[in-house]
Formats: sequence, C-alpha cells, structure tokens
Amino acid sequence: MVELIEGELFDAGLWSTYAVSLSKCSILRLSFTPRPINPSSSGVMTMAHLDPAVLRTVVENVLEPSLQRPLGELNAVHAVTLEGDQVAVSIDLGYPAEGVAQALATAIHHAVSRIDGVSKLSVDVDWVIPASPAANAQQAIPGVKNIIAVASGKGGVGKSTTSVNLALALAAEGAEVGILDADIYGPSQHHMLGVGERRPQIVGEGKAQMMVPIEAHGIQSISMGYLVTEQTPMVWRGPMVSGALQQLLMQTRWNDLDYLIIDMPPGTGDIQITLAQRVPVTGAVIVTTPQDIALLDAKKGIEMFRKVSVPVLGVVENMAMHICSQCGHAEHIFGAGGGERIATEYQTALLGSLPLDLSIRELTDSGTPSVAADPDSPIAKAYREIARKLAAQLWLLNLSASPVPEIVVSED
Ligand SMILES: Nc1ncnc2c1ncn2[C@@H]1O[C@H](COP(=O)(O)OP(=O)(O)O)[C@@H](O)[C@H]1O
Ligand SMILES: [Mg+2]
Repeated sequence: MVELIEGELFDAGLWSTYAVSLSKCSILRLSFTPRPINPSSSGVMTMAHLDPAVLRTVVENVLEPSLQRPLGELNAVHAVTLEGDQVAVSIDLGYPAEGVAQALATAIHHAVSRIDGVSKLSVDVDWVIPASPAANAQQAIPGVKNIIAVASGKGGVGKSTTSVNLALALAAEGAEVGILDADIYGPSQHHMLGVGERRPQIVGEGKAQMMVPIEAHGIQSISMGYLVTEQTPMVWRGPMVSGALQQLLMQTRWNDLDYLIIDMPPGTGDIQITLAQRVPVTGAVIVTTPQDIALLDAKKGIEMFRKVSVPVLGVVENMAMHICSQCGHAEHIFGAGGGERIATEYQTALLGSLPLDLSIRELTDSGTPSVAADPDSPIAKAYREIARKLAAQLWLLNLSASPVPEIVVSED
C-alpha cells in the first residue's frame, strides 16, 4: 500500500511542499519542492556552487535517530546524487525503522536545505537487515538472520509479555519476525498470540521432518505449548520436553526471519546456560521489575550471558510504575530507577520502561497483545521504541563484528 501525502513542511523554510510515500516494503520517500523564488530577490541559487562531496558530507553528518551517531559513521549513506539542481539522497539503515524514517528524512531535508542552490530534494530511507556473522555457523538455525534471547532471572516479571510485544513491534517496524517459546514449564506464547488449539504442520520425512511455525498477528511462532498440553504431567515434562526443546530449535522451518525472539525459560540455571550455548544467540535482552530482589536476579542474568560470550543488548524495566486507570496518576510502587542502576553498573543500556498497566495484561491474556491491538497506542509506541533501539544495537554489533577469517590453503 502506498500513501501519498502532500502539504506544508516548514513555514519559514525555502521549501513549500513535500510528498511522502510510505509503503509496506520498508521504504520511505520524501520529495521536497522549493517555494517559487523571485529571481531578482536572491542570488543564492547558483548551481555552479553545488559540490557533490559537500552534499554527501552534510548528509553523512546527520544523526541516525536510534543510535544518535552520524549516518556516515554507520555506513548508512547509500547514495547522494546530483542532477542539475536536483539532489537525491538514499539511506540504508540496518534495522527496521518505520517509526523514525520520516523524522530522519526530515532531518536530512533540514540539513540539505541550508545549502544554496538545491531546487529539488528527494530522500529515500530504506533498511536492509544484516545477518549476524554467526548465522552461517554450524549450529545456526536455518532461515534466521539474528537470534535475540529475552531472559529474566526470575519468573513472573513479564518476560513473555515483553517478548511477544517486542516481536510484534519489530514486525510493525518493518522486519520479518518469529518467536520461539522455550519456557519448558510455563509456555504461554500460544495463549498470548491467541493461537488456540492449532498445531504446527509437519513437513518432510523421517529425520528430515520439520515443523512449520504458526502465523499469528503477522509473526511466525513455535511454542512448547504446541507440543505439550496442560494435562501433560509435570514429571514427564522434564525429560520429554528437553528433547522437544531441541526439536523446536533445530526442526522448525522458519521462513526468512530477520529476527527470531527466544522467550527463554526463567532463571539462570543449567537449562538456560545450555540453551544460550546451543544456538548462536546474537544478543540478549534482560527483563526485570524494579524490586531489589528482581534486580538481583537480573544481574545474574547479565552475568550468565557474559559468561557464555553473548552480548547483552540492554535491560527492559517492566511494571516500572503504576498508572491509575481512574485518574492517570503515576506511582513507582516498586521503587524507581532500578533498571537504570543495573544498566549503568553493568555498562549496558536501559532500553526502556513499561508501566504496570491493566490494558497490557488484559490484551495479552486475550490473545491480542498491545502492539497487535493498536500499533499506534502510547504503550505500543513504547515497545516499538525499545524494539528499534535493540535492533539498532544489533546492527552496530554486526557492523563491528569482524568477518569470519578466510581459510587459505597453500601448497607448502
Ligand atoms: N507491564 C505490565 N502491566 C500489567 N500486567 C503485566 C505487565 N507485564 C506483564 N503483565 C502480566 O503479568 C503476568 C506475568 O507476565 P508474564 O509475561 O507471563 O511473565 P513471565 O513470562 O516473566 O513469567 C501476566 O498475567 C501478564 O499479563
Ligand atoms: Mg513466561
């Protein structure tokens, strides 16, 4: 779907009209046309002064909104072309950026409009999500570019709620996303995604059998909940389920995912460590609530991932404050600033905070999580901002990752 909007952009600027085309294929294009000028009133529109190198430098110095780093530093300026007095800028980001693409295009316009002599400017903002170098490793999960583990030191802090909303938020921002519910004793994604009694289709023969993930709200999903029922006795779950978990990891036929979110089992014991080692996790996100006890467990979570060399992308503080549904008053009932403190202590980022909000629970429990129910609501926007931040961090990580060394075989 392509939407075309035209209107006034900057009242005081040189430019009078703009057109925005937004499409689902992750591209945003802005075209700017100048206000007609009186040739005798200005001597600035001299094309001879337009230098492509200067134009490129100006664009490269614009800050990328999620990482707050210059576009040039991120290798994000795909092209700056000049034809006569018409400039075309094309930007390639490495994360899905639907929510900030327009702001970025506007910032570029702002910067370029200060240069004399440009009569027309078009800005394309697109994204190409790179695969983690580990995506080609032996243990890699086929069809998956990046694996994000969402973990918490303890249960009940909202790890599954955060996982599913972040998965949906990454999709809303323009990525192909899947979620794997690896919580052995308390799978919940089948409920949260409203999948009901559907079971994954099995394709292939014998050892090559694969499960086809179930699509819900635009993301692919596989859950322990699809394999065990509430009637499966607890004593059977351990042995049976650890085999099943291996199957979920290795025998799911994901279809071209930019990101696979793994809703990890709660805790920091052997199961979690083995899981973090068994698949090449690109980065981990730690969910915590602000109570001291939860924060202590969150620290253990960070330490666990560090021990197995998985980069921690940041901390999400859930139930950070309570917003009264009657009067809107915000109260830090579990204490304030805990997430910020551990993020600082462990040199990682506080990716964002979510309030304790009745609608989050109600929507998630009814099978349509907040981001799927209304992607533009303030809560969904908070999840989307966190999703962009963590995906941008992954991009940075993949940018700085050294390429896998080439093995050269010589004769002697
Ligand atoms: N920010 C929130 N506001 C209100 N309720 C929440 C929030 N986050 C989670 N919940 C609710 O808390 C309960 C536990 O969340 P869940 O995601 O299942 O935790 P975990 O996976 O860590 O055990 C669920 O009923 C969920 O709907
Ligand atoms: Mg859970």
